Formats: sequence, C-alpha cells, structure tokens
Amino acid sequence: MRLVVLLSLLIVGIGFPQGCLPGRPLVRLPEPDLQGMALEQAIRSRRSIRAYSADSLQLVELSQLLFAAQGITGRRGEKFLRAAPSAGATYPLETYVFVSRVSNLKQGLYHYVPDQHALEIVRTGDYTEKLGAACLGQSMPREAAVTIVLTAVPERTTAVYGERGMRYIHMEAGHVSQNICLEATSLGLGAVPVGAFYDQELNDLLGIDGKREISLYVNCIGRPVKRGDRR
Ligand SMILES: Cc1cc2nc3c(=O)[nH]c(=O)nc-3n(C[C@H](O)[C@H](O)[C@H](O)COP(=O)(O)O)c2cc1C
Repeated sequence: MRLVVLLSLLIVGIGFPQGCLPGRPLVRLPEPDLQGMALEQAIRSRRSIRAYSADSLQLVELSQLLFAAQGITGRRGEKFLRAAPSAGATYPLETYVFVSRVSNLKQGLYHYVPDQHALEIVRTGDYTEKLGAACLGQSMPREAAVTIVLTAVPERTTAVYGERGMRYIHMEAGHVSQNICLEATSLGLGAVPVGAFYDQELNDLLGIDGKREISLYVNCIGRPVKRGDRR
C-alpha cells in the first residue's frame, strides 16, 4: 500500500512547472512532517556521524531534510521566505542532492526547487566514487545514502550588498547546513558537514561553472551504523 502511494506520488508529480529548467522532469516530494524531536534535544544530541549502514533513506526523510534546508516557510508580498535566514531575502543558495540510496528514487543528481517542494532530475547515475574523490578521498560521500551540496549564485547577493555579499553567502551556507544536521538528528539519521573538497572537481560533477555559480558546502547523510554492524 505504502509502495503504491509513493509510486503514485512519483507518477503524478512528473511535470514541467514554471521556475524550473525546461526539459527536466520533476519529482514532487511528500509533505514534510512538522512533529519531530524537540529542538533542544536535537541540539544536545547532534554529533558528526561519518559511518553509515547500507540501508536506504525513505523519500519522506529526504523531503524532511530538504524542507529543513531551504523549504518555504512564509511569504512577504510576492516573495517566498525559506527555512534558513538570507541577507535581504536575496536567497543566493541552490541545493543539489546526490542520491545513492533513497527508496523509489533513481540514483543520480537532483536539484531542489523550494517553491514546488520538488526535485528536478539533473542526471541519473552513480556518482559516489567521483564524489568521494572530489572530497579529497574521504569515505563519507561514498557511503552516504544522500549527499546534499549547497552552491551559491553570488550575484543575487552582491548585486545588493557589493563585495560584502560574498561573506553573507558563506554565512548562509552555515545556517542551512546546521538545519540539515539538526533535522538529520531529529530523524535518527547521521550527518556530517564536509568543507574539504576540490572546487573544480565538485563544480564539474554538479555541472556548474565555478564563476556564476560556486560550490560552498557538502553534507553527507545516512543511517548510522549500529554498534556491532559492519558494512
Ligand atoms: C566548516 C566545516 C568543515 C568541515 N569539514 C569536514 C570534513 O571535510 N570532513 C569531516 O570529516 N568533517 C568535517 N567537519 C566536521 C568537524 O570535523 C566536526 O564538526 C568537529 O570535529 C566537531 O565534532 P561534532 O560535529 O561531532 O560536534 C567540518 C565542520 C565544519 C564546521
């Protein structure tokens, strides 16, 4: 029954709404559940987790992580406001997901569309090895069920704040990454933020130019290995 519901969600969700790149199919995500662990408990429990089991994430868990990262939580006039603060509500950040193991989602690279709470399929395929290599050979991107990469289009913020806007985009990536880590904790998942990566290699994997759009921060997430378990 659950499988039928998820498959219907995927099938009904295929479309090409406004604001997305033409030609990219869209996967709508389940509504986020807003009844999680108490914030204080999540702050108290969060630890960087670097070893993950081979289990998949559920689509609803990925939905929850993306909502915490950049989900729409309000409105000011025509503008949608997001879960993390943004200097002047300029929203320079973009959110990409390398999916390795998520139930009912093909392996590949996806782009999150906040206004639709949906994922655009950028490319299917297994990128885990290349992602690990781009992160200086660290094991987490190879083992994670999903890796969420934050990029920025600096012009959106520097057009308003000049050079100081460059500082702001890095501050914003910290806000979003912390939301992801706390949400992962609340869901009983393990997450680690990763700042050590080769810019060019990661930009190439994402298909961004490293000028108009730049890579900022990597977040690896998976089910934590239980004591005694071995991959
Ligand atoms: C900006 C930044 C970059 C980081 N980069 C990495 C990294 O490349 N690899 C890694 O294993 N951990 C990375 N970490 C995680 C830190 O090692 C971790 O937060 C620290 O050891 C404290 O442990 P805790 O997160 O469990 O409190 C990074 C953390 C931050 C804030």
